[in-house]
Amino acid sequence: MSHLNIGLGVIEAPTNGQEKHSRSAWRAPATVALLIQVICAILLLLTAKLLVPIMHWQISLIQLALAQGVLAATFSWLRKLDVWWILIQLLFPLALVLVIALQLPSWIFLFAFVFTLLLYWSTFRTQVPFYPSGPDVWHAVADCLPAHPARVVDIGSGLGGLSLSLAATRPDCHIVGVELAPMPWLVSWLRARFVDAASGRRPEFLLMDYEQLNFADFDLVFAYLSPTAMTPLWSKAKAEMRPGAVLLSYEFIIPDMVPDMQKMINSRQVMLYGWRF
Ligand SMILES: C[S@@+](CC[C@H](N)C(=O)[O-])C[C@H]1O[C@@H](n2cnc3c(N)ncnc32)[C@H](O)[C@@H]1O
Repeated sequence: MSHLNIGLGVIEAPTNGQEKHSRSAWRAPATVALLIQVICAILLLLTAKLLVPIMHWQISLIQLALAQGVLAATFSWLRKLDVWWILIQLLFPLALVLVIALQLPSWIFLFAFVFTLLLYWSTFRTQVPFYPSGPDVWHAVADCLPAHPARVVDIGSGLGGLSLSLAATRPDCHIVGVELAPMPWLVSWLRARFVDAASGRRPEFLLMDYEQLNFADFDLVFAYLSPTAMTPLWSKAKAEMRPGAVLLSYEFIIPDMVPDMQKMINSRQVMLYGWRF
C-alpha cells in the first residue's frame, strides 16, 4: 500500500496491482458476452447437425433459442460475469427469435443501432453509461466551488446540464464539459451555443476522452461515472491534480479512500463525495 495525505490525515491508497485496470474493448463484459454467444451458437449448431439425423429430433427455433440461452448463461456464470449479464445471456436468444417473429421493417433495426451507438458510443468499453444528474446535484456542486474564479471540469458531461448550470451561477469560473459520446456532446454544444447561452458565461464542451485531459489544469474535477471507473480515476487524479484541487464524485465512492467531505443529495438520497489534494 502507498500512502497519500489529503487533509484528513494519512489515507491508504490502492496498490499498483489494484490500479491496473483494463479499458481494453476485448476484455469488456459486452465483448466477452458476445463471444460466448457466438461460441455457444457454433457448439449448438454442430451438436444439432450431428445428433438430429441420428435421433430423428424435431427442434423448433424457440427450443434452439432456449438451449442457446441456457448454454450461454452457464458459460457466463463460469466466466464470472456479473449476474445481470447472466440474465441477459439467458434471455437474449429468445428475445432475438421473438423480435424476428414480429417481422418489423429492417430500417427500425438500423435506426435503433445508430441511435444507441451515438448515445452510448463506447459504454461497452468504459462501462460508464449515459445517465444525467439533476438540479439538486448541480446546486450541491456549485456549493463546493471555491470563492475565487476557478477552472472546473465535468468529466463525462452528458447533455451538459451541470456545466450550463455552473456557468450560469458562477460566470467568474471557467467551466469545461468533456464527453466521449457524440450525441450527448452535440446536444450540450448546441445548448451552450443557442439555448442556455444567455444565462451566464458559456461553458466549453469538448468531444474527447477525459483520459486525454490533464487534471492539473483544473481546480475542481466532477465525476458521475460508474464503480468500474473509480480506481483508474483515482490513479489519474493522484498523479495529476494540484495541491488544493478537489475531486468530486456523485454516487460512486473511490474504493478504500475515505472522502474529505460527503453530502447527501436530498431528493435522491445519494451521496456526493469529495477529496481534497
Ligand atoms: C452518468 S453520465 C453523467 C452525465 C453528466 N456528468 C451529468 O451529471 O448529468 C456519464 C457520462 O460520461 C460519459 N463518459 C464515459 N466515459 C467517458 C470518458 N472516458 N471520457 C468522456 N466521457 C465519458 C458517458 O458517455 C456519459 O455521458
